Amino acid sequence: MIELLTETAIQEPQRIRGLEMPWNRVMGSTEAPARAARALGPWHPQEFMAECVETVPEAGGLMTFVFRRCDGAPLAFRAGQYVNVAFPVNGEDKEPVDRSYSLSSSPTEPWTFSISVKRDGGGLVSPWVHENVKPGTVLEMLGPVGAFHLPDADRRARYLLLAAGAGITPIMSMVRTIHSLPGHADVVVLYHGAEAGGFAFHQELAYIASVDSRVKVFYSLGDRSKPEGWEGLSGRLTAAMLDEVAPDANGRQVYACGPEGYLNTATELLKKVGVDDTSIYMEFFTGDRQTLLEYQAELAHAADIAEEIAEEIADSAEDYFESQPTAFGLYEPGYDAEGTLKAGGLPLETVDADAAGPEALDGGSDTEPETASPDASSFDTVGTGSLTLSFMRTGINVRIDPTEHILGAAQRAGVRIGANCKEGMCGSCKVVKLSGEVEMNHQGGIRAREIDAGKFLPCCSTARTDMVIDA
Ligand code: FES
Repeated sequence: MIELLTETAIQEPQRIRGLEMPWNRVMGSTEAPARAARALGPWHPQEFMAECVETVPEAGGLMTFVFRRCDGAPLAFRAGQYVNVAFPVNGEDKEPVDRSYSLSSSPTEPWTFSISVKRDGGGLVSPWVHENVKPGTVLEMLGPVGAFHLPDADRRARYLLLAAGAGITPIMSMVRTIHSLPGHADVVVLYHGAEAGGFAFHQELAYIASVDSRVKVFYSLGDRSKPEGWEGLSGRLTAAMLDEVAPDANGRQVYACGPEGYLNTATELLKKVGVDDTSIYMEFFTGDRQTLLEYQAELAHAADIAEEIAEEIADSAEDYFESQPTAFGLYEPGYDAEGTLKAGGLPLETVDADAAGPEALDGGSDTEPETASPDASSFDTVGTGSLTLSFMRTGINVRIDPTEHILGAAQRAGVRIGANCKEGMCGSCKVVKLSGEVEMNHQGGIRAREIDAGKFLPCCSTARTDMVIDA
């Protein structure tokens, strides 16, 4: 007969101190068994094919897609990271559309992995994903990518995890990971959603909170009206709410994921309750349309910055030029009455590196282009250095040293290139190289086929030769 323990007789589990990811020891070890186990370590992002094996509808319009790698290998990643997926939205024979999605599964179960996609009715990709990705669908992926993740080892392991809407996805991966590991941890999850029935993963979160004394989960309905029987919190994120769920917030590492406005508010409030900047990690969660909007905002922002920098360069270059004897043959910067650099090339427009394949650049056929290409020799030249980068759309030549990253030199000269991570991870700075050689040291932000098509990431590239760039 099974003897049931009374609740008071249930002992707290004996735990080791802090959290340690399972791959942490093997990665540093040289022992033979460790070498085998290293396949499970979160290594450099790779390109791989993955097959969907299951789809799971979630609350809040999300659908979880469970995948396994076609090569049979586990997917090694850190909780919080994402993969970039190529979706053949326009047909198998057309250029796929890339999107990044956070992994919602735990890396401690690496033989399958999942992404959870929120359907955005007005979006291009997510409706397609919901309708077309089914068990058996094989997709090209790249990853893992992203610096927003749990540490490999943490002796204190005290976390405040903040999620809004679909921003729960990487947070869910973190909760699942912590729950699957032994070790002392103290985790508070505060999850904001728009409607009572719209909290994805709520059943699993409730289960974890009920069996794992290390995890506490709070829900808030934001400023929506509370339905009858609602037992969670209500109201937007405030310092009082943070204080209520985690009075010791300033002793915790905070991971927050959600829309930009939510994260901006969270940043302010966390400062207010005494959380140090160095303890805050944020991921701007982006669904389909949101991704595009944020990229556009990023590009606009980059353009503003570039303009400001260009003005500064023009001003300082003007002063410098005027202070030098002309016989020295120094470059004469292009500046107008307002002090901005003069563009002599193609009209400035947003560079869509994904749309601009090699065929778009060299014409792709033997028909003559309608307008003659601008001649880089007529462009103004700025900067110093042994190599020349010719930016054809902006109409400027930038002199650069072989050790200098191309993005910085380009932006300082007023070339509009959007950039997020500046570490070769996100792919947002991708541009097309028309000629010349680069040395690129990326971290997964570009695929082999894109490199074959002449694209590169200027944030993590140096020039090996003179170059002509479509930007
Ligand atoms: S800015 Fe992210 S890859 Fe270049």
